[in-house]
Amino acid sequence: MFASADRKRVDDALRELSESGLDGIPGSLLEPIRYALAGEGKRLRPILAQLVHEACGGADDIIPLAISVEIIHTYSLVHDDLPCMDDDDVRRGRPTLHRKFSQREAVLAGAALIPIAARAVFRAGKKLGYDEGKCRAICRALLRGAGAEGMIGGQLRDLSAEGATLSLEAMESLHSAKTGDLILASARIGAISADASPEALTAVERYAKSLGLAFQIMDDVLDATGSTTTIGKTAGRDAALGKSTYVSILGVDRARQRAESLVKEGTDALLERGLLTSKLLEVANFILARNS
Ligand code: IPE
Ligand code: IPE
Ligand code: MG
Ligand code: MG
Ligand code: MG
Repeated sequence: MFASADRKRVDDALRELSESGLDGIPGSLLEPIRYALAGEGKRLRPILAQLVHEACGGADDIIPLAISVEIIHTYSLVHDDLPCMDDDDVRRGRPTLHRKFSQREAVLAGAALIPIAARAVFRAGKKLGYDEGKCRAICRALLRGAGAEGMIGGQLRDLSAEGATLSLEAMESLHSAKTGDLILASARIGAISADASPEALTAVERYAKSLGLAFQIMDDVLDATGSTTTIGKTAGRDAALGKSTYVSILGVDRARQRAESLVKEGTDALLERGLLTSKLLEVANFILARNS
């Protein structure tokens, strides 16, 4: 399994937050929030943040801070599955949150995760000894990726395009926003926490932008080629909803080729700056090889 030791660290940090970091949350929302956080995800985003931090010379364990991206990502999945969005019954191999609880709880628990994520940045940042300014810069990177100029804007365009055929250019911009921008935020968090130079930050951003787009292309490929059991969500959902995807526009083989060339561009950007660690290369290869 991909980065299983790092993944366990992320799971542990999320468990700790679930058990003792949800102070002030009303009792009736605790159970759905805990359900959402306990889902078995790949934890790619916080792992990426940690590995970028190390590649940029950082020596901190930033996982307790980087779970903020996973928390935002988790909320985005809860909302993505709602009947008014992709209307899905299965997520991470279990019933979606609105199926297990109710739509009302899915909307509210999902929204509650956004300030929980911001709070995780400041609490963990303080423990790491980061000053206010650095915590704010990290939080800004996170919320920019999550916001209407990033992930939310991409989700809006994704839903508006159902039943339409997008140009490749429009598709690329949509995917970069809905999925790429949160992956970009993960990498930025890794670099900012390591006090990376502007040159290193630029290289890391190029890597993350390429990988983020490749990640969604492979998600489209897996939706078309995987099984519900393996991918842990309903296979074939994109075609059923009339989504424009890389597969609907290019077909599986060309979509995969596009993802391969993006991953190469991304790793080259790091290589040029001497920042391509074996672990960041592993992340890049995992994006192409994953089956879930
Ligand atoms: C699924 O993300 C949604 C997309 C943005 C493509 P992941 O494939 O990272 O899902 P989990 O976190 O492993 O469940
Ligand atoms: C979702 O994209 C991206 C998000 C911002 C959650 P998809 O709708 O393709 O994600 P899955 O396939 O349901 O995981
Ligand atoms: Mg969707
Ligand atoms: Mg979906
Ligand atoms: Mg998908």
